[in-house]
Amino acid sequence: MAIKKNKMKVKNICCIGAGYVGGPTMAVIALKCPHLNVTVVDNNSERIKAWNGPLDSLPVYEPGLPEVVSKARSRNLFFSSDIKGSIEKSEMIFMAVNTPTKTEGDGAGMGADLRYIEACAKDIAKYSNSNKIVIEKSTVPIRTAEKIKEILDQNEKALNFEILSNPEFLAEGTAVNDMFNPDRVLIGGSETKSGQKAVNALVEIYANWVSKEKILTTNVWSSELSKLASNAMLAQRISSINSLSALCEKTGANIDELSKAIGMDHRIGLYFLKASVGFGGSCFQKDILNLVYLCKYYGLDEVAEYWHQVVKINNYQKNRFAQKIIDHFGGDLKGKTIGILGWAFKANTNDTRESAAIDVAEKLYNSGATLEIYDPMVKPETIINDIKDYWSIKIYENDKKIKINQTPNFAEKIDGFAVLTEWEEFKNLQLDLSKVFDGRNIFERSLYSIGKNTNDNDCK
Ligand code: NAD
Ligand code: UGA
Repeated sequence: MAIKKNKMKVKNICCIGAGYVGGPTMAVIALKCPHLNVTVVDNNSERIKAWNGPLDSLPVYEPGLPEVVSKARSRNLFFSSDIKGSIEKSEMIFMAVNTPTKTEGDGAGMGADLRYIEACAKDIAKYSNSNKIVIEKSTVPIRTAEKIKEILDQNEKALNFEILSNPEFLAEGTAVNDMFNPDRVLIGGSETKSGQKAVNALVEIYANWVSKEKILTTNVWSSELSKLASNAMLAQRISSINSLSALCEKTGANIDELSKAIGMDHRIGLYFLKASVGFGGSCFQKDILNLVYLCKYYGLDEVAEYWHQVVKINNYQKNRFAQKIIDHFGGDLKGKTIGILGWAFKANTNDTRESAAIDVAEKLYNSGATLEIYDPMVKPETIINDIKDYWSIKIYENDKKIKINQTPNFAEKIDGFAVLTEWEEFKNLQLDLSKVFDGRNIFERSLYSIGKNTNDNDCK
């Protein structure tokens, strides 16, 4: 779609949602656009307080983020609980609220819960006194813009709202660099004159640091669906390689060698082919389930089943990893202590949402193991809350079989270590540990024993 030149003046931006996306994306926009005032609002006042607090305890841990926040916060980046005031004064409003999997009603367990998006739209309709550009930054099902429009059009002041889709593609742990150097920025808008004016206004903001060739404009529906499809394609590669890791273990092929051999074909590429204990994070599973739900809704059962398999293989892989440890010790872990290295869903983040560690640890515990858990960035209370919230069995506060370490100093008697997050510091630690344990009983997330590269991939 061609971008028509038609300027719309934007001076104040508001972002609703100060989470892993809202905080970092707005900090980068503020840094790169000193002529704009950027205010991030949230109904969680503790989060806002933390964003305004010391740089070493921002709510989101991201390499490079404190430097960006520090510079922008002293100039044109504001974190506030004043949702009304911020909506009133802004010409452009981003919605970066959570869109989790629904837990009840139609589509429970699969479809996206849009209640936070709807609440934002209601606030925007209620507090606006002038026309606005409203931007879906959150990941949403295709045709969500239609629902947002319905809500906004109920405003009593006959205002005009242009809705754009501008999905975020950052990955946690590399978010700042991903935003500084995006592969592409995607903006979907309506093809009307006012729609194109709104698209252009957003293009101009990104053009402050992203070259125009990388700013792709499409219709709203293509943009909304591209985000779900991108995550599904990335996750599909991980499930594909993880499924092959099971075959490697049966046959004597080496999964790392296989990944390299496959990935060196430039048509396939090397990225996202690293076998693991299974993907985690707040988005892959929920976005694929949402895609599955949409396909079923449109009567595309075969397509739905194809994508559902990506999540099923991921669950299989997490289960398989834990089972390998249990089998190694002869079928149960009674009397054994397992050290869990890493709780975050990937390195360089403090985010534990859908982390494979949660499921693996539960299965080990249920098999009788005592657990000693350590993660360099995740707070002990987060680990405890994850256990309480996501394990199916009830755990008591003073359970002696779960210990959380704040340093990598483990008890003398550890029967095996499960390395569940690829933190850099574990690489050295693993070398030390493999000396201590003579290479035995270290269960690495790619199912290799450390210090060995044996074909059977079993835990020596
Ligand atoms: P998050 O849970 O970290 O943050 C969402 C924030 O929105 C929370 O602080 C919550 O308090 C706030 N909020 C919810 N409803 C609100 C309301 N009505 N008014 C004011 N504040 C409200 O979520 P996140 O990880 O930042 O993800 C946000 C969206 O971005 C999701 O749709 C997600 O799929 C998508 N996304 C996430 C990532 C990622 O790496 N986390 C990357 C790309 C896209
Ligand atoms: C992912 C996408 O990469 C982002 O583009 C997207 O914006 C984001 O989801 C989102 O929508 O939330 P993220 O989940 O932060 O980003 O991190 P990834 O690097 O994609 O890792 C996800 C999971 O896959 C992690 O558990 C990671 O360890 C695992 N993974 C990744 C593998 O197991 N193997 C790989 O080769 C790569």
